[in-house]
Amino acid sequence: MATAMVIGTQWGDEGKGKIVDYLAQKADVVIRSQGGNNAGHTVVVNDQSFALRLLPSGILFSDKTCIIGSGVVVNPSVLLAEIDSIKARGVHISSLEISTRAHVIFPYHIRIDEEDEKLKGEAKIGTTKNGIGPCYADKVNRIGIRVGDMLDEAVFREKLKYNVTLKNRLFKMYYECDGFSYEEMLQEYLEYAEKIRPYVRDTDYSVNYYISQGKKALFEGAQATMLDLDHGTYPFVTSSNPTSGGACVGAGVGPRKMENIVGVVKAYTTRVGAGPFPAEQINEAGEYLRNTGHEFGTVTGRPRRCGWLDTAVVKYAAMLNSLDYLAITRLDILDGLDTIKICTGYTYEGEKIEEYPASLAVMEKVQPIYETLPGWKTPISHCRNYEELPKEARAYVERISELVGVPLGIVSVGPNRDQTIILQSIF
Ligand code: GDP
Ligand code: IMO
Ligand code: MG
Repeated sequence: MATAMVIGTQWGDEGKGKIVDYLAQKADVVIRSQGGNNAGHTVVVNDQSFALRLLPSGILFSDKTCIIGSGVVVNPSVLLAEIDSIKARGVHISSLEISTRAHVIFPYHIRIDEEDEKLKGEAKIGTTKNGIGPCYADKVNRIGIRVGDMLDEAVFREKLKYNVTLKNRLFKMYYECDGFSYEEMLQEYLEYAEKIRPYVRDTDYSVNYYISQGKKALFEGAQATMLDLDHGTYPFVTSSNPTSGGACVGAGVGPRKMENIVGVVKAYTTRVGAGPFPAEQINEAGEYLRNTGHEFGTVTGRPRRCGWLDTAVVKYAAMLNSLDYLAITRLDILDGLDTIKICTGYTYEGEKIEEYPASLAVMEKVQPIYETLPGWKTPISHCRNYEELPKEARAYVERISELVGVPLGIVSVGPNRDQTIILQSIF
């Protein structure tokens, strides 16, 4: 196998960074294809933790090519700070490519994101306020500024002038707040452009070239299926397509090239921000998951909403992404529980429904159906083989696989690279 993709199956923070870092050991190229610095991917190597926002999780290996693909939205100041910070920690970046087609996030995108959330009040989405949605909106509106534009001063001046003028009008008339200085922003971004220039490539060609040369390419999803703009819990979603189809578009690679699609499933469910979450536990069980799992956002520090695993959600993700394998993470967080519940579907107005409803109004009224399994009540983080896991832990993951209809590929029992049990060779 020469290609693999890692996709979040729930509402994000499933442990994609950890799984990508593990699989990257055998990969040559690691590619991010959507989202931006709304992602927070934690990779723990030798007990050192790295929280990556824009850099692909393969960056900690000095011999891998890391690519920020065309579908990503890039905040250059965040990217440069991230590069400096990991270099300062002794990581050698040998090969980083940034797509000339990727769109650039500007301070006005961040302000629009903040002001929109304020205006929405109670109805706010709970975004990461990184300007992700407004940047993608400009892209769709065909007024966005791409990395390649930023490198051509004449083009950049014209496009930035247009955008700053337009946004300043919006700030004044609609949001009733101050605008930005075009000259200051221009100078700031021209400096970023020079720092980024050495990395900029037409990555649509380079990704396909590497694959054609038999290099092993690993596609790293950010966000997750239920945050997908088209298929998630709209409008409580992100502004990109974190599903496998979106990864093809964002990387510029045809779907036939994708060989192994791995869905990362947290052993329970978390969600940051607003929106439906039928298996949420606002009780002792939820507190246990939040406290034991230290469930606070990598990016925003917000407490994550916690609940039981919902296999209706994961089954929907399996369908949308054509999942080949499941990677179940954070199984060790359930070590202390007497019993563990799985939400296997819902009832709506007394009727059982097995499909994930598209309507938010229906979603808000569904009642989860639970199945209860025995816990294992013993630490599992030291286990390295499947057989070493207690039989109750095996029964739990096997039941998930059965309910979702996708075979188990990986079981993760701790944040470190070696705390990983492999059931299927992905590459
Ligand atoms: P991502 O956004 O999907 O990459 O996930 P995050 O990094 O935001 O959150 C996952 C958290 O779980 C990180 O702190 C990881 O280091 C950690 N993690 C990943 N896998 C495991 C696991 O199997 N057990 C434990 N205890 N932690 C894990
Ligand atoms: P990783 O890659 C969890 C959520 C936000 C909010 C919604 C929209 O670490 O799994 P946005 O800033 O994207 O416009 O916010 O999406 N969100 C995430 N939640 N993990 C993420 O990324 C997320 N990226 C965005 O909390 O509800
Ligand atoms: Mg995260």
